[in-house]
Amino acid sequence: MSHHADLDAIFRNNRQWAHFMRDQDEDFFPRLERQQTPEYLWIGCSDSRVSANEIMGLLPGEVFVHRNVANVVVHTDFNCLSVLQYAVDILKVRHIIVTGHYGCGGVRAALENRSFGLIDNWLRTIKDIYHRFEDVFTHLDAEQSVRLLCELNVQQQVANVCHTTIVQDAWKRGQTLSVHGLIYSLSDGILRDLQVNVHNMEEIPKIYQMYSDRDLLRRSLQGHAHIL
Ligand code: CO
Repeated sequence: MSHHADLDAIFRNNRQWAHFMRDQDEDFFPRLERQQTPEYLWIGCSDSRVSANEIMGLLPGEVFVHRNVANVVVHTDFNCLSVLQYAVDILKVRHIIVTGHYGCGGVRAALENRSFGLIDNWLRTIKDIYHRFEDVFTHLDAEQSVRLLCELNVQQQVANVCHTTIVQDAWKRGQTLSVHGLIYSLSDGILRDLQVNVHNMEEIPKIYQMYSDRDLLRRSLQGHAHIL
């Protein structure tokens, strides 16, 4: 069986990379094989120009990765939720980093009225964000709109991560876990901090906070402690 010439290049690159890594550190692959202990879960865009490990200068084994079009976190997406649950409950990552990028094709498509097929449904949640801030967008030109929506999308997805039962349960059992929103610029390769960092349950809006009946009873007793 012969490979397509393009695939041959991939195999050649791979062998070079594997040799290079082994030359640099002979324990690299044995260590990789023994375990993965990433501190970070990265949720990013599928865009081929955005690679989690490379951007953060991290090696394989140092970051757990979930990618989809436009780095969206939807509460009924069992793929994303499963990655999140495994990362938080089993790998015990300490940071979840949602990373968007300026000029995102998914965000750009969400701003248009042109249909792309099935993916229109996926991008609908980004239209919802636009719709919520429509009065702000009316003052912006097309490029400014893409830029702002890329940023707002990251902020919304950070919130969505925090609203999951997975992250809230981790906080309730005292696990150290924070959620961050970053954005990457393809023009200079620089990651920017959007200053949306969430570290505990109290930082999310009350309506999204989820407690068991026992927690609720305990909280209400605490709330009335001064009159008992
Ligand atoms: Co993108």
